[in-house]
Amino acid sequence: MNHSTEVRTIMMDKEISTIAVMTSGGDSPGMNAALRAVVRGANRYNLTIWGIYRGYQGLIEDKFVELDSEKVSNIVQRGGTILKSARSKDFRTEGGRAQAALNLKNKGIDAMVVIGGDGTFKGANLLSKEYGIRVIGIPATIDNDIIGTDETIGYDTALNTAIEAIDKIRDTADAHERMFLVEVMGRDAGFIALETGIAVGAELSLLPEELTSISDIKAQLKNMLKEQKRSSLVVVAEGDETGGALKLAEKIKDDFTKYDLRVCILGHVQRGGSPSARDRVLASRLGASAIKVLMEGHNEVMVGVVNNSLKITPLRVAVAKKKGLDFGLIELAKMLR
Ligand code: F6P
Repeated sequence: MNHSTEVRTIMMDKEISTIAVMTSGGDSPGMNAALRAVVRGANRYNLTIWGIYRGYQGLIEDKFVELDSEKVSNIVQRGGTILKSARSKDFRTEGGRAQAALNLKNKGIDAMVVIGGDGTFKGANLLSKEYGIRVIGIPATIDNDIIGTDETIGYDTALNTAIEAIDKIRDTADAHERMFLVEVMGRDAGFIALETGIAVGAELSLLPEELTSISDIKAQLKNMLKEQKRSSLVVVAEGDETGGALKLAEKIKDDFTKYDLRVCILGHVQRGGSPSARDRVLASRLGASAIKVLMEGHNEVMVGVVNNSLKITPLRVAVAKKKGLDFGLIELAKMLR
């Protein structure tokens, strides 16, 4: 048995008495609600709970805070994350992970609950594989692109934020008979663009998952404008291959001079704000479930909700590929416009 296998075996056999929890990657509304549920769930088992500030970066820099039930009161309704978040380059290095594992060991931490997206889960998987830290993932990202859960924490709130903003844009677009290209978040995933597009009645939604040529986009818009539409809204996912709303505007503006083209980039407004009821409930369920499955002996898994039931998915499966869009919804968006 080599040294790392030995360390791994010892850690796995040890009863869990101390855990750590972090939020990592792009923040999402509901992360605080998940954190609260993790802490209160862990209280049931009398665990010592350490919060780690600023995700993996804070772990490397030894930034811990001891958490109890009171420290997570009055946060269920707050956006952002009281533990802060970061995208850590150092954690991608072997040296960074070794330091992170040492800091966990020095605090006597047996297991870690990570709240974030696929980058967060990849990091957790490495810590478990290399250093035997037990890890459980809670999917939280506005992008909704994680396999093993119908929705990720924060997606519903981001959708509602985008819809509220675009409804307002529709009013002014209509008043001035303009065409608006509205960019929503989603570097690699079109969930926000697709469902927002359906909910606001967009004339077109451009998604990273679908290839659309500029000539096709122009033709589709011209066709629709022939149907006596006086304003039009195009929802563009940030990661669409056209390069986003600003670049797309440059490419099509000369064909639509009559419509006085305007661009609006919603950006990080979609990541903030008080979580919706659905996100608060999902986060509370997943936070408490993460502790339950950990105490039942699971490791390297993610908790999710599929068809209203708890689902446990191995982290390696959750990070292997992105969740695909629902083809039926893509067709629906086309049919309704
Ligand atoms: O968290 C997901 C996400 O909001 C993506 O939709 C977006 O592309 C990215 O994060 C932006 O990240 P950052 O805030 O680090 O620029």
